Amino acid sequence: MLKPHVYHPIANKTLLLPLHKPFLHGAAFGFLPLSPSSSSSSSSSLSKTGKGLKARSVPNRTKATLDSTSTALTDDVGSVSVVKAFVTVKQTVGGFITNLGFQRGLDDIQDLLGKSLLLELVSAELDPKTGQEKETIKAYAHRVKQKGDDVTYEADFNVGQEFGEIGAVLVQNEHHKEMFLTDILLQGLGFPDSHPIIINCNSWVHAKFDNPQKRVFFTHKSYIPSETPSGLKRLRNEELEALRGNGVGERKSFERIYDYDVYNDLGEPDSDPNKKRPVLGGNKLFPYPRRCRTGRPRCKTDPESETRSSNIFYVPRDECFSEVKQLAFSAKTFYSVFHAVVPSLQSAFVDKDLGFPYFTAIDKLFNEGIHLPPQTGQTLWRSILPRLLKVISDTNALRFETPETMSRDKFCWFRDEEFARQTLAGINPYALQLVTEWPMKSKLDPEIYGDPVSAITKEMIERQIKGYMTLEEALEQKKLFVLDYHDLLLPYVKKVRELPGTTLYGSRTLLFLDTDEILRPLAIELTRPPMDGKPQWRDVYTPAWDSSGVWLWRLAKAHVLAHDSGYHQLISHWLRTHCCTEPYIIATNRQLSEMHPIYRLLHPHFRYTMEINALAREYLICVDGIIETSFSPSKYCMELCSVAYDLLWRFDHQALPADLISRGMAVEDPTAPHGLRLTIKDYPLANDGLDLWDILKEWVSDYVNHYYPNASLVESDEELQAWWTEIRTVGHGDKKDEPWWPVLKTPQDLIQIVTTITWVTSGHHASVNFGQYTYAGYFPSRPTIARRNMPTEEASEKDWEFFMKKPEVLLLKCFPSQIQATTVMAILDVLSNHSPDEEYLGEKSESAWADNPVIKAAFEKFNGRLMELEGIIDERNANRDLKNRTGAGVVPYEFLKPFSEPGVTGKGVPYSISI
Ligand SMILES: [Fe+2]
Repeated sequence: MLKPHVYHPIANKTLLLPLHKPFLHGAAFGFLPLSPSSSSSSSSSLSKTGKGLKARSVPNRTKATLDSTSTALTDDVGSVSVVKAFVTVKQTVGGFITNLGFQRGLDDIQDLLGKSLLLELVSAELDPKTGQEKETIKAYAHRVKQKGDDVTYEADFNVGQEFGEIGAVLVQNEHHKEMFLTDILLQGLGFPDSHPIIINCNSWVHAKFDNPQKRVFFTHKSYIPSETPSGLKRLRNEELEALRGNGVGERKSFERIYDYDVYNDLGEPDSDPNKKRPVLGGNKLFPYPRRCRTGRPRCKTDPESETRSSNIFYVPRDECFSEVKQLAFSAKTFYSVFHAVVPSLQSAFVDKDLGFPYFTAIDKLFNEGIHLPPQTGQTLWRSILPRLLKVISDTNALRFETPETMSRDKFCWFRDEEFARQTLAGINPYALQLVTEWPMKSKLDPEIYGDPVSAITKEMIERQIKGYMTLEEALEQKKLFVLDYHDLLLPYVKKVRELPGTTLYGSRTLLFLDTDEILRPLAIELTRPPMDGKPQWRDVYTPAWDSSGVWLWRLAKAHVLAHDSGYHQLISHWLRTHCCTEPYIIATNRQLSEMHPIYRLLHPHFRYTMEINALAREYLICVDGIIETSFSPSKYCMELCSVAYDLLWRFDHQALPADLISRGMAVEDPTAPHGLRLTIKDYPLANDGLDLWDILKEWVSDYVNHYYPNASLVESDEELQAWWTEIRTVGHGDKKDEPWWPVLKTPQDLIQIVTTITWVTSGHHASVNFGQYTYAGYFPSRPTIARRNMPTEEASEKDWEFFMKKPEVLLLKCFPSQIQATTVMAILDVLSNHSPDEEYLGEKSESAWADNPVIKAAFEKFNGRLMELEGIIDERNANRDLKNRTGAGVVPYEFLKPFSEPGVTGKGVPYSISI
């Protein structure tokens, strides 16, 4: 069954009237009741729209001249103007059947009666005589026309001159169904030089039958708290209170409450004690960022864990995917893969542990495809998964697109230079570090984990670099680099090896920076700690010229690639972008009003992230999810992710320049571009990323400096201070006592914090996400799991004999099983996809930005510099001297090219983490 999140049927399905298309479906939104002190005339309620609001400012009022979109809108009656409101409501494109029910019939009767939407205009000013809020002006909007999926409702208001500037519109949805409000247009304002006010809502408005509270849509103008118009102060505060909720009860799908919880819903202990998983976050053993609170019931057998059985992973209503995204691409594709493709694969592969018998069998995935058992719904899948599912000779076949890497160079996965190049220009360019001590040493307890000193020796290195330089010279000249997965993985080796179908080592991979800025792998060290009465075991493999040595090197490389795949997916991708961003989103919605300029700056960077993260909890990172079943650490994947958060993650290092410095990949140098001198000059992530970082920082600086011309405004902004405090002490509360958290006292502090957050959601995520199919779609190039120990590890004679006779078969047995490989390939294809409604960085201005001339000009500069970056990246990719990003058969480095068309393109930097 497909189960799109945005679609939670609640209606009685009895069909009364065969009416026109239903409204975008779903349950409605709700708010907490207002405090009893709320005035009845302006009984607000409170909202945050799905998009930034837009409205032009309203100057002093007099008779208005109206634009041509409607007729005869002004009717001056003495000091009263007739203001017309046009509300656009979007209908579904899918025509969900549950909306064709009994309540839909009632809603059409409401429409006929002209009582569909109750609107109230809110004055931005207090009454000067009483000092109280002015009475709101109410009118019902009635349905007047439909064009395509857009239905227009219209209302007339008699607005007296004394009413002053309109600051907000309250909306009550009289239907039984929630409605998706696109915008509200107010015309006939009767002011000199007045323009119509357009409020871009793009938000779900709950039915009053679900929650009687009204929604508020503020006009577009941004205010720091101290500058809030007097008539809107109460609304501003009450809106935030409503969005925070009260922390109790199970969240309903129509609600808009943003609250925190720990990751206690990854296991299913009630169904099987072996499916219990530790709570991540809120404890010293497994610190972790917070997720969105759903309030589902606790498990019977483990009161610390939340049940997964309700089958709905709540996210605040406006965080759900849009209909375009839902119907056309990601969410629905996601569901299709999980509910149709994965079960089909499971039935196609009877033996779950079976690997590929030959390399040619892997090639068949891309030409003949896998023949799947017939199942209902496969015709539907083909329309949803056109890339994956192809009809070949009327058979049901799952055929994969050939990844770009393979179509350019079929043998690239085999070669050491490509393995090394991808540490700088692949999908995990965030792990390579400069070697700064020799010999390399572990920080783990030698009593438990054995000799901490690396077994890679000076002699091993010099055997390969002699003629160039000595080891000491290589260290001195910063020529040695390491992929260090030793200390992170070694503590899990024993536990993982107790699980069936997997194994693990700690690993160190040493690379040398050769001439022409090319990296050359020199050595791989694999380590097993003392365990089961056996001493520590480790071995070092080097590129070889004898057959056994060559195959051992390939096997060792497969292990390192599996480590790197796990690090990429769990840490560089999930933890550092998806997971760590969720607390920023929650805090932003709880602490910054929708009219706060920083809310409006950050808003596009948070689009769809909570929804995709909820999907990840539901299908990817949970017990028996794709991550557990397909990656080497198996059930310990998420524990490891928590350990990495504990050991490695710090907010200040998420800024690209600081990240590079922390890994020894750059040093500060005021004379160098970006103020940084790169250790490896041809480092595509750093080259393009620093350009993008600077462009983002300039945009954020222009924006912040406009609203915060001096430091005192930052310090005295209570919403902003509460926001930053909550991020540090609640959302990332397990790290609240760390000394490295930046302070927030000056505009410069704010610029650095906001640029860091926006870089993480845009550039960082794009660089690790959209190339996943390109680089890992042919799984031998990046296996997610290595399933066999090295034949050199206390090999029995039989094992060694097998290796000597059939080394290729041993490598295939080490690679993922057929079901693991194909499942991951299908998922990576979906994750690498740009939806048709993707919003790329700097491509389109938020409405609120466009209406402020200073911000508009800054945005245009931002956009211009991004267009320029497109050209710069193209030029770099055409420069033959930059061998880490261009060359025979090499896929050019385009992950940080700002713009893209839909599909799997390997380029394009969206504002947000949307997939
Ligand atoms: Fe992602």
